[in-house]
Amino acid sequence: INHVIKRTMSSGSVINHVTIIGAGLMGSGIAQVAATSGHRVTMVELDEKLLDKARKGIEKSLERVGKKQFKDEESKITGFVKESMNRISGSTDLSTVVKDTDIVIEAIVENLEVKQKLFSSIDSVAKPSTIFASNTSSIPINEIAKGTQRLDRFCGLHFFNPVPVMKLLEVVRTPETSDATYTTAMDFGKKLGKTCITCKDTPGFVVNRLLVPYMAEAVRMLERGDATARDIDIAMKLGAGYPMGPFELSDYVGIDTTQKIMGIWHKIYPDNPLFEPIPMLNKLVEEGKFGMKSGEGFYSYKK
Ligand code: 3HC
Repeated sequence: INHVIKRTMSSGSVINHVTIIGAGLMGSGIAQVAATSGHRVTMVELDEKLLDKARKGIEKSLERVGKKQFKDEESKITGFVKESMNRISGSTDLSTVVKDTDIVIEAIVENLEVKQKLFSSIDSVAKPSTIFASNTSSIPINEIAKGTQRLDRFCGLHFFNPVPVMKLLEVVRTPETSDATYTTAMDFGKKLGKTCITCKDTPGFVVNRLLVPYMAEAVRMLERGDATARDIDIAMKLGAGYPMGPFELSDYVGIDTTQKIMGIWHKIYPDNPLFEPIPMLNKLVEEGKFGMKSGEGFYSYKK
């Protein structure tokens, strides 16, 4: 009977305290938008150094957002940055933090075992009402949720880089995600200022399922020598209206990230030619050329 009640209940609950696990580029971005939309946020990382790096990055990004919002009114910008930063705290003690949180959003390394272990370790500590969410871009949500007893309170919340700028949030429902969890997640996404879409738990959800094969096809085109990277980028910007060409985007997102996503999908679907490994991509990753973050990818960013 309980199960039936849970499934038919569609009214969500209100999220006040948000815990973000992993304060890299995505985690920091999520923490930032949660704070600017009035939530209390705790970022959890492995050590203080990583938390400090995240705080600095968020502060910089808040200044950009503040400048846009308040034009050149310095005092308003400073106030906005300070107020938002005050809502964010950092911790290295995950099991204490999750005792009092309404939602946990995981944004750590793309590795199924690591994610499964993490969620199963906090399942018995977190309040029964706490929703667990993953920001994974390529791993099935249902697989990540397997180690927990809260399949009905588990969903995907997939954000896009740069999180403060990109307006979309993919809300991923597994067959077990309850109506109440889904409603809470949608309401939370709207409160963050995002436009939410609903997706099933399929590889890449909507955006990455289309975007990753597109970027892969661009690399194959370059490998064949059909056109230069710069010309392909110009073509897609001016001929298709994309803000960045596929190589600029790969460098921006991280070539290692794209390669990792392709690798995970190739394992699940070895017969799908779209996910076939690409020698040029593998070579760049082997050479440590990950894109902007490493100073070189398809383009050079060394000053
Ligand atoms: N924080 C805050 N504000 C930022 C920002 C950040 N990190 N990055 C950019 N901005 C703001 C700038 O301040 C600027 O504001 P303004 O309009 O007031 O000047 C505005 O965004 C535009 O930035 P720029 O002028 O520096 O440069 P662009 O006009 O080229 O925009 C871009 C940058 C928003 C990144 C744009 O090029 C873009 O939309 N690119 C495509 C990004 C994309 O496709 N992302 C999805 C990747 S896939 C993904 O994330 C999924 C994952 O699972 C892999």
